[in-house]
Amino acid sequence: MKFPTLKIGDLVPKYPIIQGGMAIKVSMAKLAAAVANEGGIGVIAGTALKIDELKNEIKKAKELTKGILGLNVMFAATDFYENIKAAIEAGIDLIIYGAGFSRDIFAIGKEHNVPIVPIVSSLKLAKIAEKLGAAAVIVEGVNAGGHLGTDEVSWDIVSEVKKALKIPVIGAGGVITPADVKRMFDLGLDGVQMGSRFVASDECGVSDVFKEMYVNAKEDDIITIESSAGLPANAIRTPMSEYLLDTNNKVPIKKCTNCLKTCNRRFCVNDALIKGHDGDLENGVFFASRDVYKIKNILPVKEIFREIIEYEKD
Ligand SMILES: Cc1cc2nc3c(=O)[nH]c(=O)nc-3n(C[C@H](O)[C@H](O)[C@H](O)COP(=O)(O)O)c2cc1C
Repeated sequence: MKFPTLKIGDLVPKYPIIQGGMAIKVSMAKLAAAVANEGGIGVIAGTALKIDELKNEIKKAKELTKGILGLNVMFAATDFYENIKAAIEAGIDLIIYGAGFSRDIFAIGKEHNVPIVPIVSSLKLAKIAEKLGAAAVIVEGVNAGGHLGTDEVSWDIVSEVKKALKIPVIGAGGVITPADVKRMFDLGLDGVQMGSRFVASDECGVSDVFKEMYVNAKEDDIITIESSAGLPANAIRTPMSEYLLDTNNKVPIKKCTNCLKTCNRRFCVNDALIKGHDGDLENGVFFASRDVYKIKNILPVKEIFREIIEYEKD
């Protein structure tokens, strides 16, 4: 099987594989650059990073690769526009955004000649995005890691979007193994976005505890909690995520940075994810794909790509 050609504006990666942006320092310069060096699109997550920190990560990544680098931002975050402005100034190649929908961002992209790629979970929103000037859309299902926008699994929604749109359509959610990548391409998709698989990589910045949890997770270890951002999110079963399953349970917030436009303040998702990043098994929240149980090893990014490329050759 041949890989499809993914064209986002003028950008054409060697392989149609995007590494999903993952906030709270999960996808930073090192991971994004490693993916871009292998011929995919590497993505730095800007949400909750200080502006100087974000600019510095982009600079670092550009020193490590000549490949394609994107910024991921959550529309739900208060620093959404600030982040985008900073990333454009730092020379980012494209902007990917999710967790809500912005109409204004397309004009900003056009003004600076930077492709805008929204993450959507419905045909309706995909069509609106195309009409407003999206360079491509990422269609994400409920099986994805992180915040969710639908009850349907990726495999059930990607095809109808692909059939209805002229712009490239990228599938996300539950793309873990080389066979999953092929399955998306067999459905006619122009590319895939993979998040969880890249967490269990040498280059990902999270603690070893986080990565080991991915490798050890069983099929029923993923639960869907209600994030303080008001969206459901898939996370690994831990004492904290189980506690948060009951929406009456609260965790006192020590210091609020007003990082979200709308927050129910039941707990601080930012804080819980920082603890997860650092490997705090008791108090941390660890976002993960519903299909994380398919991950059997922590690999260098080069090896993750090699396995996919080898599989596609068969
Ligand atoms: C730990 C983690 C953090 C994530 N953070 C973000 C984020 O900040 N912004 C976003 O748009 N998506 C985020 N996602 C979603 C990924 O970018 C990607 O779309 C998703 O992981 C794809 O599903 P998969 O994990 O099954 O591959 C996150 C996913 C994970 C696993």
